Amino acid sequence: MKLIMAKDYQEMSNKAADVIINQVKEKPNTVLGLATGGTVIGMYEALIQDHQKNNTSYKEVHSVNLDEYVGLEYTNQQSYHYYMNDQLFSHIDIQADNVIIPNGLAENIDAACQEYEKAIAELGGVDLQILGIGQNGHIAFNEPGTSFDSITHKVELTESTRNANMRYFDSIDEVPTHAMTMGISTILKSKQILLLASGKSKAEAIYNFINGEVHESNPASALKNHPNVTIIADEEALSLV
Ligand code: GLP
Repeated sequence: MKLIMAKDYQEMSNKAADVIINQVKEKPNTVLGLATGGTVIGMYEALIQDHQKNNTSYKEVHSVNLDEYVGLEYTNQQSYHYYMNDQLFSHIDIQADNVIIPNGLAENIDAACQEYEKAIAELGGVDLQILGIGQNGHIAFNEPGTSFDSITHKVELTESTRNANMRYFDSIDEVPTHAMTMGISTILKSKQILLLASGKSKAEAIYNFINGEVHESNPASALKNHPNVTIIADEEALSLV
């Protein structure tokens, strides 16, 4: 595992964007695994700025997203469909047909999970997967206790995750109770993984990830079984390490 230290959120975001830009330049038809949440917004901003300034093209890029809430309309600003269009896709030249995000509105969520897993495999797998980390060590929506063998599945969100994500909603009642998420095994199939962490609220999760044992009680620890993981974290996130 490689650790890259950043001074602050901005530096973390720029360094992460550089990894993606280099990857896309090297392999224009890269399959990018994308994440949502507050951590990656600065990275998306840096990608947009670079696209406008340097014309880095995403025309041949495919993207797959980690997760989506179950039951939120795509027009809902808290859905990850809305987020991805708003924060990235509408600002770059990625083709709509090349973008996939789990369908949290599917009538049969279990079938949609299987289809999603198949769609990733048909793309030849993810070349570069971007990850954030939850305060309880979750990656995507894989909560503590999730099997490391898990593939794309439906999950019930823990109280801790619903509370952490409440800041984006008007009240806790509006935070969905379930989500669709790539499994840990799905994530580990990516060829390269880039995990980002910023701020004091992630310091404990980063400490446990780096120093703790590999165990299903800490989903992020599964990444230690992967040969090509880079962490980019800022000083606050690394303050306990
Ligand atoms: C959310 C998402 C994750 C994200 C994590 C951290 O619940 N499902 O994909 O990485 O929690 O979010 P944030 O970056 O807002 O702290």
